Amino acid sequence: MPDDRADLLVVGASQVVTVAAPPGTPPGPRRGEAMREVGVIPGGAVAAFRGRIVAVGEEAEVRRRVRLEPGATVVDAAGGTVLPGLVDPHTHAVFAGWRADEFRLRLRGVPYLEILAAGGGILSTVRATRAASAEELARLLEERLRAMLLCGVTTVEVKSGYGLSWPEERKLLAVIGQVSRNVPVEVVPTFLGAHAVPPEYRGNADGYVEEIVRVMLPEVAREGLARFADVFCDEGVFDLEQTRRILGAARGLGLGVRLHADELASLGGAELAAELGATSADHLLRSRPEGWRRMAEAGVVAVLLPGTALFLGKPYAPARDMIRAGVAVALATDFNPGTCPISSLPLVMGLACVGMGMEPEEVVVAATVNAAHAVGRGEDLGSLEVGKQADLVVFAVPGYEHIPYRMGGAPVSWVVKRGKVVVERGRLVDGR
Ligand code: NIG
Ligand code: FE
Repeated sequence: MPDDRADLLVVGASQVVTVAAPPGTPPGPRRGEAMREVGVIPGGAVAAFRGRIVAVGEEAEVRRRVRLEPGATVVDAAGGTVLPGLVDPHTHAVFAGWRADEFRLRLRGVPYLEILAAGGGILSTVRATRAASAEELARLLEERLRAMLLCGVTTVEVKSGYGLSWPEERKLLAVIGQVSRNVPVEVVPTFLGAHAVPPEYRGNADGYVEEIVRVMLPEVAREGLARFADVFCDEGVFDLEQTRRILGAARGLGLGVRLHADELASLGGAELAAELGATSADHLLRSRPEGWRRMAEAGVVAVLLPGTALFLGKPYAPARDMIRAGVAVALATDFNPGTCPISSLPLVMGLACVGMGMEPEEVVVAATVNAAHAVGRGEDLGSLEVGKQADLVVFAVPGYEHIPYRMGGAPVSWVVKRGKVVVERGRLVDGR
């Protein structure tokens, strides 16, 4: 007699990729050899009830185990591949204005940080974003999250950082906080007040750090506007001491911490992430072996962003060395108007293989369970296991390796968020 009720059943898959940890794997994000374990069930099925997974296994077995409620949804994967909903753990998706002029300058050889030092770059997006209303920014963010959903992404971290004053940062965090009401994507909000020194504090970065620590962070914590605080720790932006001050204060207020580390220069951001017990250190293009060793020891997830390396024409992060050093690697888009206009996580998975030598299994782990851990949601998201939230995607391909291989072109046929179908036969069900 079936003992579990189900209101959603996914059948007809060529494979279900559970990304469940094999027995004996330590809890937390996957590292080393465990990054190659994706848990394929050929001809598998998944059942859920009220947004939670109740059964995963071979189709006949799952059908035997569950009792379908009247009116239950049955998804026919039609030979496709079922994966946990993808998680994008690093984006700057709330902004107005694009920077095509800066793209031209960079193509002519002007360095990214030189453009920023001259008042362009991040600061030009700050001007456009300050000038935009909350309604306009919400509309833009929703449109971008819908595009991500159509790529199979069901959870997205979104940073503030184009406001750089308390009223403007607050406006962005409020937009980030309310957008999940209109788009069925879970958004993890991060406060990135320390993204650049605003014009009001030009030449006085320490004064701005003081304002972040004394005014902004306490407000963020008091109003519960963000789960994490982040800092752009790099040459010409915020140095190690300033970063330590900001993230130390953030942690004291109960926020999780993460940082943009060793992207453009080797400042020792990876080591600092370990010292602070950060949830993640991101970019790491110029990080060093000592930094990886300490990150591995401290359990800091490395969020790698190969779309950014590609777009900036920089050498990719040494993913193979990091995995060998025992660091848990996750992947993200970094979607933003300056250093990575790519919003497709499946394309980034392809770049991670081609550019950084990661294996298809590793990129699947990096974009699901490790990415979920990178935003503090690893206990509930990132794998298809009984009890976890029913977030899943059906790619219309015969096997998971097609996802990186097709370089962003693997078609998504279905997406389920919290047990509800939100993409049906490649279209958003809300019709937009
Ligand atoms: O992650 N590094 C800092 N922030 C972004 C770039 C933001 C921008 O240029 O607008 C990044 O690369
Ligand atoms: Fe970034």
